[in-house]
Amino acid sequence: MNNLLCFAGLVLAVVLSAQQPDAPAVAPAAATAAKLSPEEIVAEREKYVQEVLAAIKGREKEPAEAVFKNIQRFKGVPAGRLPMIMNMGFSRSLGVSCTHCHMPGEWDKEDKPQKQIAREMAAMADKISRELLPAIKNLDSKQPTVNCTTCHRGEVRPALDLPGTAPRAATPPPAKAPGE
Ligand code: HEC
Ligand code: HEC
Repeated sequence: MNNLLCFAGLVLAVVLSAQQPDAPAVAPAAATAAKLSPEEIVAEREKYVQEVLAAIKGREKEPAEAVFKNIQRFKGVPAGRLPMIMNMGFSRSLGVSCTHCHMPGEWDKEDKPQKQIAREMAAMADKISRELLPAIKNLDSKQPTVNCTTCHRGEVRPALDLPGTAPRAATPPPAKAPGE
């Protein structure tokens, strides 16, 4: 039953993401957003970045928490870098506009659940990069790292399968070791 549900979910996710990269039916908040083409999404993001930069003009080098109202995660980051993190780090990785996590202009509010999810996702990515990856021996990289793009790759809902292959269960059960 679980597998069946998982399969149905995957098919739905694939179909939806093929039609509307910005509007998977996961979040009611996102479903009401205007449907924009990928180019329009990029242009809208750029417009909001410029608005925020204009609003903080002259204070770009101050810490984000001194300039913005509700900084929990990016304390100590120069205020002028925050709009870039929002644009290239968060939005671009997920293939969304700023409105996926914010009501435009109301950047400090918490009225969309995606905003807090993003904080927790960032904490998860940190934990993977700082604790879980370094604990794996014999990796090629000295500092193996995951970020939003590693999983999201321009989609709100990370894929569980490659395009064009039949969906399967996310994680096959581990094979039993001999003698188990
Ligand atoms: C995936 C979700 C997500 C997207 C997309 C996103 N943001 Fe954010 N935004 C956040 C989170 C989370 C915070 C709070 C960061 C913290 O706690 O340090 C934030 C904070 C902000 C703040 C600081 C507001 C304040 O006064 O505290 C601004 C300004 C902002 N975002 C602008 C933008 C702009 C402009 C875009 C589009 C280019 C954007 N955001 C896209 C999640 C998002
Ligand atoms: C290890 C893989 C992984 C990483 C890294 C990751 N995510 Fe996610 N993210 C997921 C999964 C899985 C989901 C759940 C999708 C679902 O609901 O099925 C998700 C869901 C989300 C959602 C909710 C989607 C929605 O709109 O309902 C947001 C927002 C999000 N991630 C933001 C981020 C941000 C921002 C980063 C980087 C700081 C990030 N994620 C890094 C795997 C990841």
